[in-house]
Amino acid sequence: MAAKKGLGSVPVHGRRVLVRVDFNVPQLPNGQVADDRRIVEALPTLNHLRAAGARTILMTHLGRPEGRRDPRFTLRPVVHRLSAVLGQPVPLAEDAVGVDALQRTARLENGQFLMLENLRFHPGEEANDPGFAGALAHLGELFVEDAFGTVHRAHASTVGVPKRLPSVAGFLVEREVRELSRLVEDPAPPYVALVGGAKVVDKLPFLTSFCGRAQTILIGGALAFPFLRARGYDLGSSLAEPGLETTVAEFFRRAESSGTEVVLPTDLVVERPGVAGAETHPVASIPSDASAQDIGPETRDRFAQRFLGSKTVFWNGPLGRAEDSRFRAGTQEVLSRLGAVPGYHVAAGGDSARIAQDLGVSGSFAFISTGGGAALEFVQGLSLPGLAVLPDA
Ligand code: ADP
Ligand code: 3PG
Ligand code: MG
Repeated sequence: MAAKKGLGSVPVHGRRVLVRVDFNVPQLPNGQVADDRRIVEALPTLNHLRAAGARTILMTHLGRPEGRRDPRFTLRPVVHRLSAVLGQPVPLAEDAVGVDALQRTARLENGQFLMLENLRFHPGEEANDPGFAGALAHLGELFVEDAFGTVHRAHASTVGVPKRLPSVAGFLVEREVRELSRLVEDPAPPYVALVGGAKVVDKLPFLTSFCGRAQTILIGGALAFPFLRARGYDLGSSLAEPGLETTVAEFFRRAESSGTEVVLPTDLVVERPGVAGAETHPVASIPSDASAQDIGPETRDRFAQRFLGSKTVFWNGPLGRAEDSRFRAGTQEVLSRLGAVPGYHVAAGGDSARIAQDLGVSGSFAFISTGGGAALEFVQGLSLPGLAVLPDA
């Protein structure tokens, strides 16, 4: 992909700079930031703006509050962590737009920061509503896109604002584009894609373009369920999302015609009501009250064998509900065995990055993207609206 005009090429001293970051971080049940990687990765851009004397207005979404103010998704815990990481207090405007935001931006001094409250408290964010985008754009004089994890969304803050303000890519976006482009332009074969996770409806449609691009696709996590069901397996009470049948059928057709090998789980670790521990069952005999939570030992072995001889591996999405120690072994074993194989290994995804860290395998990846869905779409060579809208260098 052609390089984008970057933050390093524009003067920012004394200017109001509106920065889209992706601080959609994993949270603990009490709201506290469970993993601050997305905050830390934005530091090159934030430190540059501070040192250069910009007046920085940060904006992000958190979770999916669906257009309503929902206290569970306030950015309060996020600004708390951000202030600690920056070593400087970052106040939070009570709303992304309106009088409070306007007054606080007007009062900003050189080198200071302000965070706007969760963009998704407004329906106009996801709808890319012109009025909402205009009100956001009004707050700044220059737009910096540093939310790589959200550039696959055509929202007000990712597309509407850059259409209305002079815009550049931040340092994180520049780095993500540079690193991930290596997977798009000529990845060394054999190229293995290992995918899992829970955002099934979002991610599944994008797997089709791995066919022909990767030699092998390994599918775990809840993402495997629609594929297994299409093959005729009844998965008991496992997570089910209807309406994916056509996409799954098209995926299998494309895989077959392009000669891409698809490896699905053959056994699953399940949870059953009233049973404390975990049980493993073959995919053909999942009890009706059981819900699958991890890939079983046979599947781990089959996945790991596909890494032998591979030169490039892309991983996104935990292979089970790895936050729970009973369902961690699948992801743990597969990633440890991946770490023992040489090659260009890239990981992507907010939850995936945290789990890689918890499992102590982060170091075995050449690059860990802050994007989940965004990285998944990028590595398939798709055009992402939040990047397409930025001017080239
Ligand atoms: P990422 O943020 O890395 O892109 P996702 O958000 O798609 O990944 O998925 C991460 C979540 O998927 C984790 O919270 C994990 O618990 C969940 N998950 C993985 N496998 C399963 C499963 N079989 N059942 C339920 N949840 C799962
Ligand atoms: C992510 O975590 O993948 C990004 O922040 C985008 O979030 P979304 O899938 O809710 O749009
Ligand atoms: Mg996630």
